[in-house]
Amino acid sequence: MAAKKPKVIVTRRLPDPVETRMRELFDTELNLDDEPMSRQALVDAVGRCDVLAPTITDKIDAELIAQAGDRLKLIANFGAGIDHVDVAAANARGIQVTNTPGVLTDDTADLTMALMMAVSRRLVEGANVAQAGGFKGWTPTWMMGRRITGKRLGIIGMGRIGQAVARRARAFGMQIHYHNRKPVSPRIAEELEATYWESLDQMLARMDVISVNCPHTPATYHLLSARRLKLMPPHAILVNTARGEIIDESALADLLAKGEIGGAGLDVFEFEPAINPKLLKLSNSVLLPHLGSATVEARIDMGEKVIINIKTWMDGHKPPDRVLTSML
Ligand code: 8YV
Repeated sequence: MAAKKPKVIVTRRLPDPVETRMRELFDTELNLDDEPMSRQALVDAVGRCDVLAPTITDKIDAELIAQAGDRLKLIANFGAGIDHVDVAAANARGIQVTNTPGVLTDDTADLTMALMMAVSRRLVEGANVAQAGGFKGWTPTWMMGRRITGKRLGIIGMGRIGQAVARRARAFGMQIHYHNRKPVSPRIAEELEATYWESLDQMLARMDVISVNCPHTPATYHLLSARRLKLMPPHAILVNTARGEIIDESALADLLAKGEIGGAGLDVFEFEPAINPKLLKLSNSVLLPHLGSATVEARIDMGEKVIINIKTWMDGHKPPDRVLTSML
C-alpha cells in the first residue's frame, strides 16, 4: 500500500477543477508555467515522485524509466494514446501505466467528421475568401466541393473512436467499410452495416474517404506508406485524427501536391508539433493543431480519469485503466 498522500508530479497545466481536486487528494506538484518539461526536469521528476501524470508532450522512454527512483509506482497518463510511454519498460520495473480511454471518443469522432466536411466542402478556403472580403457574389460553378452522402468511408481501426465515426457517418448517409486486426462483433457489424476488409490495400483502392482511427504502435508506424497511399483513387480524401506517425507524411504531401490524392484533413503530424512545410502550401488540405479531445468537457473527464486511476492505486486496488503490453 502506498503512503497516505503520494507525491504526484503533473507535467502540464490541467483544467482548474482537476488541479484543485488533485491538490486535495495528493501531495501534488503542478507545472504552473505549462512549458513542456525538459529531459532533465523529467529525470528529476521520476527520481522523486510516486506517481507521474504526463501527457503526449513527454517522452517516457526506457532510458528515462531506468532513471526512475524506487518510489515511482504509477504513470497515470492524461490521454488515451500511450505511444509516448514505454509500457514494457515501465511494467518490467513494477511501474503500472494507465490512460484515459472512452471520455474523448465522441469529441474525436466529431472532429473527424468536421475535417471530412471541411475538406470535401472546402470550408477553410471559402471562409478565408469571405473573411478577406473577397466574396464577389454567387456563381453556379465557383468553389464546388464533393458530396459526402452516399460515399464510401473506409475506417482504419474500428475501436471505440472508429465506431463512433462510423455512427456519425451513417447519419450523413455514408457507406461504412473498415480494416481492423479482426472483424467487429456481428451485432456491431449489423448495426453499422459495415463491410470488413481484411486487405487494407484492397480497401484503400475503393474508398472515397479514408479515416485513420487506429493507435500508433510499432505495427502501425507508416501503415499508410507511399506505396499504400498511391493505391487511393485521385479524388479520395484522407482524414487523420489518430497519430501522425501512422502516415508517411512526406509521401502524403507529395501526392496531395500532385493531385494524386484529392485532399487531406489532418489533426496530427508525424513530427508534432512540426508540420511538414510541403503540407502548409496545399489548398486541398485542412490542418488542425491536435484538437481531437480539445473540449472543456473531455479535458475535465480525462483529468477525472487520471484522478480515479491514482486514487484507486493509492487505496491498494487495481486502477481501472491499466495499459498492459498485451493490449498494445
Ligand atoms: C490528448 C490524444 O489531448 O488522448 C489522446 O491520445 O491524442 C489527445 O487527444 C493528448 O494525448 C493528451 O496527452
